[in-house]
Amino acid sequence: MGDPGSPAAGPTQGGDLAADIDRAGEILARAQYVVVLTGAGVSKESGIPTFRGDGGLWTVNGEPPMNGFQLFLEDTAGWWRQRLDRRRADEADPASFARAVDEARPNPAHAALAELEHLGVVRHLITQNVDDLHRRAGQREITEIHGNRHWMRCLDCGARWPASEFPVDEGRLPPRCAQPGCEGVVKDDTVMFGEPIPAEALSRCDAESRRADCFLVVGTSAVVMPAAGFPLLAWQRGAPLVEVNPEPTPLTGYAEVSCRGAAGDVLPELAAAVRARRAAGA
Ligand code: OAD
Repeated sequence: MGDPGSPAAGPTQGGDLAADIDRAGEILARAQYVVVLTGAGVSKESGIPTFRGDGGLWTVNGEPPMNGFQLFLEDTAGWWRQRLDRRRADEADPASFARAVDEARPNPAHAALAELEHLGVVRHLITQNVDDLHRRAGQREITEIHGNRHWMRCLDCGARWPASEFPVDEGRLPPRCAQPGCEGVVKDDTVMFGEPIPAEALSRCDAESRRADCFLVVGTSAVVMPAAGFPLLAWQRGAPLVEVNPEPTPLTGYAEVSCRGAAGDVLPELAAAVRARRAAGA
């Protein structure tokens, strides 16, 4: 997308959280087609660290190589050997990121978003998270733009399998596609740096964002494209943005209202505000 232009008016800047949630509830209750973008912050209260910011995985350990996918393609078998070694090390380390994700449960933020979908307010949710927690909370209309760590995907035909149903034979690496007539290399479904996002996911995000008459952005630093561009695509078409994040982001200036709090605290209150307004016919 091109230059989104400048924000017309700043949001209410986090002075009074209760008033901001009330205003956000009013905007969401009025909308017919709310699309949501979530990031790592929505899962923080499930015990999964974010990437950036205080205590973030990459703040602590450094960023992974930006050419990860290129490195994968250069030596798929070697990559898989390292992957299996790392998986064994993660399983043995109670403090590993992988263990945190595997043991995580949906938190009240995930539940509130699923409730907003159930109410007919949220129509689609785009998540950058690979942890599967939205689905486990009952959300149905989801695009996982960065994949799902519990799935595997063929790079040639795009077929996907739950990882639990796709045993990897260490004697025959890399694993190959199980579809008849396809021998494509199989990798984790999680999108790596430098890897193209599957076209189907991209076009769904694009279509949903164009259709949105309100965009709710939760727990993302909004610095990774193309995900961070979808709320702006909707904003350019006149949809108000509502943001939930304890910190300001590059999208804050475009937001009608920015609720500066933890998603697990704010979203249940926001869902209650929407429910109350809908019940009152407001
Ligand atoms: P980041 O780690 O960049 O940002 C997390 C955001 O969550 C920050 O804006 C925090 O202020 C906010 N946050 C922290 N605690 C929160 C809470 N309790 N409630 C709500 N928000 C909170 O994570 P993402 O924006 O998701 O992609 O990162 C985007 C992508 O960067 C990831 O999907 C990953 C990485 O490249 C891939 O690996 C492909």
